[in-house]
Amino acid sequence: MRRAIIGGTGVYGVGGSTVSRDVSTPLGEVRVDILTLGGYEIVFLPRHGKKHDVPPHLINYRANMMALKQLEVSYIYATCAVGSCNTEYRPGDVVILTDFLDFTKSRAHTFHDGSDGVKHTDMSDPYCTNLRTLLAEQAGNHNVSFKGNAVYVCTEGPRFETAAEIKMYRALGGDVVGMTNVPEVNLAKELGMCYAAAGIVTNWCTGVKEEAIAMHDITAAMEKNKQDLTSLFLSVLTGPLDQNHCSCAHAVMELGN
Ligand code: HPA
Repeated sequence: MRRAIIGGTGVYGVGGSTVSRDVSTPLGEVRVDILTLGGYEIVFLPRHGKKHDVPPHLINYRANMMALKQLEVSYIYATCAVGSCNTEYRPGDVVILTDFLDFTKSRAHTFHDGSDGVKHTDMSDPYCTNLRTLLAEQAGNHNVSFKGNAVYVCTEGPRFETAAEIKMYRALGGDVVGMTNVPEVNLAKELGMCYAAAGIVTNWCTGVKEEAIAMHDITAAMEKNKQDLTSLFLSVLTGPLDQNHCSCAHAVMELGN
């Protein structure tokens, strides 16, 4: 059983011995790197493409997740760049995602097109409980300090949000805002894969503080955290894992008639 890391903005090259592979799926071709480490094969998937040239609203999320499934991946850690609308979470902080609010508009969100019956996915625990617990437990060994849990707001992008939108997201219970975690997280659940994600806070969201969003700040905050997070992910992913402590493998329900 393979494991995977999905890199967010700027998270490339996890070291070790890697081979590149093109995975053909019915939804498109996906290029991954496969790293062999500690007797495990870790699939590394740069969600924006290897050259970071696919914008968030045009990522082929279904092909990406199907490729991981075809590679027999069961456990996935992801990183994502986020802005913060919660003043407790500052640029440079790292948070564990626990839930999400979906404000995307034009993405293919599901594999269930009706051809195989009417199916619904339980989202009471969108981010795998077991993978989240292991992250929190092992963080201290890898120089990672999680600032807390966060509700992720997914926007369509590629534009940033207006100040009025951010005020609304905060009022609804959002902590951090990004453009890529949905539908990635729900597609993982549809395919029965355990998925957890860390948000790297790169900036204050629009209107939260005086300063405007700067791309160089986003890159700098990602750089600062990516290595430590990757080493934490690799440490958990090269240890024993099972699906007995979560419901990820059984989240899809078929409606009887
Ligand atoms: N908004 C949306 N996505 C983001 C942000 C933001 O402020 N920062 C990094 N990704």
